[in-house]
Amino acid sequence: MTVAFAANAAEVEVLHWWTSGGEAKAAGELKKMLEAKGDKWKDFAVAGGAGENAMTALKTRVVSGNPPAAAQIKGPAIQEWGDEGVLTSLDDVAKADGWDKVLPGVVINTMKYKGHYVAAPVNVHRVNWLWVNPELLKKVGAKAPTTWDAFFKTAEALQKAGIQPVAYGGQPWQDATVFETVLLGVGGVDFYKKTLVNLDQGALKSATMVKVLETYKKIKPLTDKNSAGREWNLATSMVINGKAAMQFMGDWAKGEFLAAGKVPGKDFLCVAAPGTANAYTFNIDSFAMFKLSNKDAEKGQKDLASVLVSPQFQEIFNLNKGSIPVRLGADMSKFDECGKQSAKDFAADSKSGTLVPSFAHGMAVHSATQGAIYDVVSQFWNDDNMTAKAAAEKLAVAAKTM
Ligand code: BGC
Repeated sequence: MTVAFAANAAEVEVLHWWTSGGEAKAAGELKKMLEAKGDKWKDFAVAGGAGENAMTALKTRVVSGNPPAAAQIKGPAIQEWGDEGVLTSLDDVAKADGWDKVLPGVVINTMKYKGHYVAAPVNVHRVNWLWVNPELLKKVGAKAPTTWDAFFKTAEALQKAGIQPVAYGGQPWQDATVFETVLLGVGGVDFYKKTLVNLDQGALKSATMVKVLETYKKIKPLTDKNSAGREWNLATSMVINGKAAMQFMGDWAKGEFLAAGKVPGKDFLCVAAPGTANAYTFNIDSFAMFKLSNKDAEKGQKDLASVLVSPQFQEIFNLNKGSIPVRLGADMSKFDECGKQSAKDFAADSKSGTLVPSFAHGMAVHSATQGAIYDVVSQFWNDDNMTAKAAAEKLAVAAKTM
């Protein structure tokens, strides 16, 4: 028996949660580009929107001393993993590829742990969108709503016409996604920063928070009975197939519309959620890389990091994913109207200070705090006996979780 010792194809195990139609297409582009470098992609896909299941799987693997080469880890969680001492430095790739010059400052800070790059960014998703089926709105003579008043009026008209106004997936992360969007629209940017970023006790218990919670709960009667537990992409399908008129969701939803062959501006509309046109909740995907004993695997990690930030990958991946490139001054000519709008707003909101980190998508606070707030939001959504006032009090308590 001969032993193949010249294994020059590094195997790179990549943990991610991109399993829906649009997500899988985008992930497929990453795999292709990595393999073009002569490496082997080992897929570690864990289904479940927003990655809760993936993070559980990751913890198990790291605790047992067998981490994957790379894992989709975002925002402050990169620091949490850095504190565990398990991440590897990507400084040499970052230096060779000039990351400090091509990435926005807020992204650089997030990707670094104690001054060293330990993660590579993929994209910028905007969370505060409303996805609209224009044909259904036309049936009631309505345009895509830009205020909460218009939203609830439109929804009422749709309901009267026997059309399901809102497609909803009742899972904690989706509850939190819709909640943060309502909070931004009703409370505004400063209130968002005070509550979901700075965890200000007074603001969390304020009358404004009560109003936010009441507005959020007013959406529930506009959803269908089967929404509990529904995956986000199935809710998006309802809008795609004319089963529901609107969905609040980040622009990974656009990946689903596109994968279904739908055309933005014609078959579906992307509009900023009511009251949020001049604000932007960002959600940046990234891959952190783990320390490994196998030197071949290290080569694969570096190749992966380099591919992720390359202009070619940034374009093809984000065209499929629904997000926009994370590189400064990226060429947007091949992107559709939603992508162009997102890039324009990202730049404008960065300048005016109205760019805010998505709480629901792990950009704003420690994961434990996030989890505690998720619980309160979902309890409030599901328990029709809980008052908005009581929920606001609980939010303030949850915000102290660390
Ligand atoms: C991720 C997206 C993903 C979405 C749904 C978000 O937290 O940033 O990349 O498509 O969850 O799973």
